Amino acid sequence: MAAHADVAFAFISPGHALYEGELELRFRVLREPLGYSPSDVAFPFEADSLHLVAHQDGRVLGCVLFHPEDAHGGRLFQMAVAAHLQGQGLGARLVRTLEAELVQRGFNHVHLHARAPAVPFYERLGYAVHGEPYTEVGIPHRNMRKTLGA
Ligand SMILES: CC(C)(COP(=O)(O)OP(=O)(O)OC[C@H]1O[C@@H](n2cnc3c(N)ncnc32)[C@H](O)[C@@H]1OP(=O)(O)O)[C@@H](O)C(=O)NCCC(=O)NCCS
Repeated sequence: MAAHADVAFAFISPGHALYEGELELRFRVLREPLGYSPSDVAFPFEADSLHLVAHQDGRVLGCVLFHPEDAHGGRLFQMAVAAHLQGQGLGARLVRTLEAELVQRGFNHVHLHARAPAVPFYERLGYAVHGEPYTEVGIPHRNMRKTLGA
């Protein structure tokens, strides 16, 4: 049985009891390794975004966010899985759970800024690279997108 078989998934908003755990995970997995401080983790559109967390016993083990940009689509961002659970399928479960919710809400386009090492992860989930490589938060990125239900 995978180590994450018993995790629960929840869509939360800032202020929820799990939100501080989400911010802590985002900082540890996405920002601290790049030399950023905890105050650099929040986005201006935090309150307007969907926050999906994977949690167990009050601990946030994974998360992914989605910022709606119009009635049909938006940006997936802040995709993170706790270091000790990476490579065991939890990230894929988070993306699939988010996509199912987005379809329910009438969205059909998702785009994202993928860190170069994460490109194969998103490709496995049906996302395609477009445009040229670029640098963001000091590291190489590619733009990727997917049409849901295609
Ligand atoms: C990237 C990340 C979210 C992926 O989550 P994960 O739980 O480790 O990935 P999964 O185990 O669900 O992988 C799903 C599939 O993608 C593949 N995959 C994952 N990372 C990969 C990589 N770097 N290279 C090639 N394949 C990869 C897995 O092998 C798996 O393939 P399968 O369907 O054949 O089994 C996670 O590793 C992470 O948090 N990394 C650090 C932060 C980060 O880079 N976030 C993304 C920012 S854009």
